[in-house]
Amino acid sequence: MYALEINNVSKSYGTFNALNDISFNVEKGDFFGLLGVNGAGKTSLISSIAGINSFNGTIKVMGHDVINDVVKAKYNLGVVPQELAFDPFLTVYQTLKFQSGLYGITNNKDWIDEVVERVYLKDKINSNTRSLSGGMKRRLMVAQALVHKPPLIILDEPTAGVDVEIRKSLWEFITELHNKGHTILLTTHYLEEVEKLCNKIIMIDKGNIIAKSTKAELISQSSTLPTTVQIETSNGEFSPELEGRVILREGNVFTLKLDNSDQLLPILNLLKLADVKINDIKINHPSLEDIFINYLHR
Ligand SMILES: Nc1ncnc2c1ncn2[C@@H]1O[C@H](COP(=O)(O)OP(=O)(O)OP(=O)(O)O)[C@@H](O)[C@H]1O
Ligand SMILES: [Mg+2]
Repeated sequence: MYALEINNVSKSYGTFNALNDISFNVEKGDFFGLLGVNGAGKTSLISSIAGINSFNGTIKVMGHDVINDVVKAKYNLGVVPQELAFDPFLTVYQTLKFQSGLYGITNNKDWIDEVVERVYLKDKINSNTRSLSGGMKRRLMVAQALVHKPPLIILDEPTAGVDVEIRKSLWEFITELHNKGHTILLTTHYLEEVEKLCNKIIMIDKGNIIAKSTKAELISQSSTLPTTVQIETSNGEFSPELEGRVILREGNVFTLKLDNSDQLLPILNLLKLADVKINDIKINHPSLEDIFINYLHR
């Protein structure tokens, strides 16, 4: 049995097809990355799994059909949605208590306290949800999805708008849940997050699966893509020896392609020899978006 089975799922909004006959399985224990550019169909698929969207095809959560066996499917699933939505008149604690009630759980104060601590909201436990910052709201949504300890957890961009420090601690918490045996499906736009967390990856574009791969394959893809360095000079002068390597010039900013990071130092030395004054240097590593584009044009 799989943690999640997606069979021939299509979704349209009026005449627009957001998902075209998607099929894949998530094995128990996977940390699965669902990737795609804005509008690829990730949230449409997650809303279908969560029973928010109507769709064609079949979806099973821990073997339970999300339409015909909806109660069992819901007990086995926790979703952190992309859109923030709360009752603004409830406190953090009341929100989690209410959510527990939806699952018939009445005595889980210890678990609520633990989850609240792990998402760094302990000092806000009695604050109204409307008084939380955007990042805090997102952390509350993570807590909300976990009140019933579901075996399958789906996170739709859980760290969007969350600051770096808290993002790292959320990663730790999610990793711990994964180590305890929870299966995780995550969408994100951060390559770093995929590298750190996911063991399997599926990429969708315009409602179609364009690639299924392991993390190792994805990383080797990204290593074939060029890293670039942007060098801003003080007066627009540049080393003549390096002119041939410039792939873009915008004012005083020169962009050069690097095949590996060892090439940076010789470049800086040549600039020094040519007496070029450098105001700023920025190294751009390939992003998830670059990798998508590469997949699309293969
Ligand atoms: N309620 C809706 N009505 C009409 N079209 C919709 C609706 N929801 C989504 N769409 C369209 O379906 C497509 C997929 O949207 P979806 O939200 O699933 O993308 P996504 O992959 O989650 O993108 P993002 O990374 O921006 O969150 C988009 O073209 C979007 O405009
Ligand atoms: Mg989305």
